[in-house]
Amino acid sequence: MKSSTKIVISTLLCVPLLWAAPSAPVEISPAIIPQPQQLQVSTGQPGFSLKEGIRVHYKVSRSELGRAAIRALMAAGLPVLPEENTGELTVELVQHTNPEWHSICVTPELITLQVASEQALHAAAQTLAQSVVQAADGTPALPAMQVTDAPLLHYRGLMLDPCRHPQTVEETCKMLKIMARYKLNRLHWHLADDQGWRIEIKSYPRLTEVGSHRSETPTLANHEQGDGKPTAPFYFTQEQVRHIVGYANSLGITVIPEIEVPGHSSAAIAAYPELGNSDIPGYAPHVATTWGVLPYTYAPKGVTMHFLSSVFAEICELFPRAEFVHIGGDEAPRDQWQKSPAVQQFMSRQGLCHTGQVQHWFTHRMAELLAGHGRRIIGWDEIIDDGALPTDAVVMYWRSWVRPCALRRALRAGHDVIQSPDSHFYFNFSQGKLPADPRYKPHGSLTAEQDWRHVYSYNPIPADIEPELHRHLIGLQANCWSESIADSAKLEYQCVPRICALAEVAWRPAAQRNADEFLQRIIAHYSWFDEQQINYRREDGSPAR
Ligand code: ACM
Repeated sequence: MKSSTKIVISTLLCVPLLWAAPSAPVEISPAIIPQPQQLQVSTGQPGFSLKEGIRVHYKVSRSELGRAAIRALMAAGLPVLPEENTGELTVELVQHTNPEWHSICVTPELITLQVASEQALHAAAQTLAQSVVQAADGTPALPAMQVTDAPLLHYRGLMLDPCRHPQTVEETCKMLKIMARYKLNRLHWHLADDQGWRIEIKSYPRLTEVGSHRSETPTLANHEQGDGKPTAPFYFTQEQVRHIVGYANSLGITVIPEIEVPGHSSAAIAAYPELGNSDIPGYAPHVATTWGVLPYTYAPKGVTMHFLSSVFAEICELFPRAEFVHIGGDEAPRDQWQKSPAVQQFMSRQGLCHTGQVQHWFTHRMAELLAGHGRRIIGWDEIIDDGALPTDAVVMYWRSWVRPCALRRALRAGHDVIQSPDSHFYFNFSQGKLPADPRYKPHGSLTAEQDWRHVYSYNPIPADIEPELHRHLIGLQANCWSESIADSAKLEYQCVPRICALAEVAWRPAAQRNADEFLQRIIAHYSWFDEQQINYRREDGSPAR
């Protein structure tokens, strides 16, 4: 990819007059995360002064690409002054096989962006935003520099879980801002689970009337014990969803919604008991008040398929830019299907030999249904356990302990794979046994130790995967489940700076990374974390706020 020639398709946005005054000399070299493929900074020389902002020539702001560039620069927090008849910014479209390829040239007079597509504008804008430093006279400036860059993987994601504990619109938007800073481009939004249904669905109002609250929650200190406190209803209205999706889009992030099928569905079944296996003894669905794997699953019947079809129709309407819709598929127990006379009859009618094939049947139906909306499914790696799927189904690899390895099985079956193994990318897991860590217990049971160094050690292109399968390794994601994360301070502590490590692992080949050098760049970002009031984890394990 790197070797392909750049052809300037359009130089339409050249600027006739340049009025920029150079900054005072710039001595500081920016600490960019993720590290660009090529970066040359001319320190000790004047840079591009940001005292007055970047004036954009009106010709730039009249072209579609130019307007997109201005939006991306503004979303990244850069001071852009539009609609001048002189200007200091040019944008060019060039051909490249990687749609996120871009180059940036900053001189004291001019900023020139070359991008392979509009998608690349966000990464370029964030590189510029991270490059703002103080010139020798204390004023803000961009150093004179030349950047050429493109990511290793196209899907760079974070999963948020507002089901176990609520996360407000503001908290979600703050996480989006942090993701965008580090060029993550997918928010996987886990919107339905046993413990709560979190998105308004107009055709099924009881999902939120009944499914968005529960009678109690396990305490943080002891997951085996309930707190005895009913929760307030919590869900995102469709208006709030549109706001979050729009904000994410303005930052170059696509939101991928997840609705779990066929397991992790107690909240939906509590709201509409006819969706479940209602003919089994002791059937009494309720919004779950414990964590873990719960027995309630959807039953394979007409009323359920009508429900799922209506829910996903509304979901597709709310997430117009999501090329994928996540259908869950993990940890679906089969006991209720085994006990249900109706499911047993269904199985013999369909010629299904074991209950695993009921899940497989559901996954196929969801893939067909979503294909009808022009979307591909993503499912947790259990979706490939019980038979072949349409090859365009994307497998999200999480069970690092299962053998034979789900990653290899999925690749060999021709699926695209997003890697989020729990061995490295579960940001809810503890970050180590440093005494300043609020979860530190001297003789306690913090077994997982996934600090940023551990995240950083991952190679997303494993050496034992055949080169012809590499093109199916499309992404990397961290998951931040919220059973133990009840507030935004904890959420931020769990995610920052691990999110920086995730971003760099997804961007740079493993052979080009060095953890000790990376630490210096993380520390250089503490000032941005402080400015954004982020409760990041310091090197000694202490929370910043
Ligand atoms: C998962 O952690 N159950 C995907």
